[in-house]
Amino acid sequence: MDTTDLVLAIFHHLLVFSLAGIIGAEFVLIRGDLSAATLKRLAGIDRHYGIIATLIIIVGIGRVIYGLKGWEFYIYNWVFWAKMAAFGIVGLLSIVPTIRFISWNRQASAGPGFQVPAAELASVKTCVRAEAFIFLLIPIFAAAMARGYGY
Ligand code: HEM
Repeated sequence: MDTTDLVLAIFHHLLVFSLAGIIGAEFVLIRGDLSAATLKRLAGIDRHYGIIATLIIIVGIGRVIYGLKGWEFYIYNWVFWAKMAAFGIVGLLSIVPTIRFISWNRQASAGPGFQVPAAELASVKTCVRAEAFIFLLIPIFAAAMARGYGY
């Protein structure tokens, strides 16, 4: 029994479910009516994305170092690195939506007649859809790596 491992595992799960919720919320909201209130909500939700992702990295590294299996279990395992790559790609894909949400929210607050440009919306939809899809790979890699696949 190891309390540190348990606490890290609990936080890891709570954080990854929160991130899944955020991606899901963005996925749904960008498909609806993009009123000023929705744009404000999107910018607010997206701010939490960065905070949660940062905490996942901290807790995740904590699990590698202080987890029951020891860091050697992970760093020589290609499935672990596939999981890290997937997480990194999701992070990169989130950059364009973050920039757009901040800009749209600012423009909507400045002028009530603001309409989200169709081309910008299309690129954000593509990024969020790709994020959601690649995010699904992460728990698949996680489950495999935790069971020793990847050597
Ligand atoms: C820097 C980022 C991350 C690091 C360093 C990391 C690291 C780890 C470690 C060390 C474990 C323990 C595996 C074991 O029991 O041997 C784990 C488990 C897990 N991780 Fe992550 N993780 C990260 C991000 C994520 C993300 C974004 C998700 C999103 C779904 C995720 C989902 C999971 C799941 C579901 C498990 C449990 C696997 C199982 O026991 O079947 N992780 N992670």
